[in-house]
Amino acid sequence: MQVFKEKTPLQEAIKAAKSKAETIGLVPTMGALHQGHLSLVKQALEVCDRVIISIFVNPTQFDNPKDLEKYPRTLPEDIKLLEEASSNLWVFAPTANELYGDNISSEQFNFDGLEQVMEGKHRKGHFDGVGTIVKRLFEIITPHKAFFGEKDFQQLQIVRKLIEKTGLPVEIIGCPILREDNGLARSSRNERLNTNEREKASFIYQTLLKVKELFGTKSAEYIHNWVKEQFTNHPVLKLEYFEIADTRTLEKINRKRKGNTYRAFIAAYVDDIRLIDNIALNNEE
Ligand code: PAJ
Repeated sequence: MQVFKEKTPLQEAIKAAKSKAETIGLVPTMGALHQGHLSLVKQALEVCDRVIISIFVNPTQFDNPKDLEKYPRTLPEDIKLLEEASSNLWVFAPTANELYGDNISSEQFNFDGLEQVMEGKHRKGHFDGVGTIVKRLFEIITPHKAFFGEKDFQQLQIVRKLIEKTGLPVEIIGCPILREDNGLARSSRNERLNTNEREKASFIYQTLLKVKELFGTKSAEYIHNWVKEQFTNHPVLKLEYFEIADTRTLEKINRKRKGNTYRAFIAAYVDDIRLIDNIALNNEE
C-alpha cells in the first residue's frame, strides 16, 4: 500500500493509472478509521480499479476549536487497518499546507438552502469548510467516483449539490450507515465514550426506529413532541435537534406529500461529545 503525503507524486500515479483506463475511486475521511469508513472502502473496491483514501482533519469545517483539538489523530493505526483491508489502496495524508497553502480559510458556497438547516444551523461555517476541502480533493485527485456515508446525510446531499453547481465530473455514491451491535452509528467520536455512555447512546437509534414506526400513523408535530419528551431527563444524552425533512431539499416537513421521501435526523450530546444519526422513513430516494 502506498502512502502519499504530497499531491504531486499522487497526481503522477493517478495519471499513469488513468492512462491504463483504470477507474479511480475516492473515499474522503478525517482518519481515526473504523468499520464505517472501511465499509465505504469495500464498496469503492467493488466498483473501482484504484481506490484512494484521503486522511485529513480539515480545520475549516470545525466551528468549535475544542472539537478540532480533541479530534483523534491515529495515522499509523489507520494505515494498519487499511493494509489489512487490501494491499491495493493508496492513502493520501497531506498536511494543511499541502492543501491550503498559507491561507487556511473556506470558500463561501450557496447550496440552495441545504446548508442552512440542521448541521449548518448548529455549526456555523461547517459546510463551507466541507465544500472547500471536498472540492479541493476532487480537483487534485480527479476521481471518477467518490463515496460518502449516509451517516452524514446532509453532507452527502451537499456534495451532490456541489457537483451540480461546479459541474465537476465526479459520480457521488451514497453508502448505508454501519452500526455497532447495539445500533449506535459508528463514529470516530464513539471512541471518546465510556462503556456506559456507549450503551446509553444507542438510545438515539432506538428512538429513530420508533419514529419510523410512528411516521406511518402520526403527524410530524406529534412525533416532534414525542421525541423531545423521550430525551427530557435522559441520564446521559442531551438532544440538540430533531428534524423530519424532505430527503431532496432537507426542508422541514409540513405535510406528508405522496411521492416525497423523508428522513428523521437527530443530533445529541454526551457531555461535549456530539453524536448524529438519521433514518429513512419511507421508501428510499
Ligand atoms: P469522516 O467523519 O471521517 O467521515 C468520512 C466518511 O465516512 C463520510 O462520508 C462519512 O459519512 C462516512 N462514515 C462515517 N461513519 C460512518 C458509518 N457509521 N457508516 C457509514 N459511513 C460512515 O465526513 C467527513 O469525515 C469529512 O466531513 C470529510 C467528507 C472527509 C471532509 O473533510
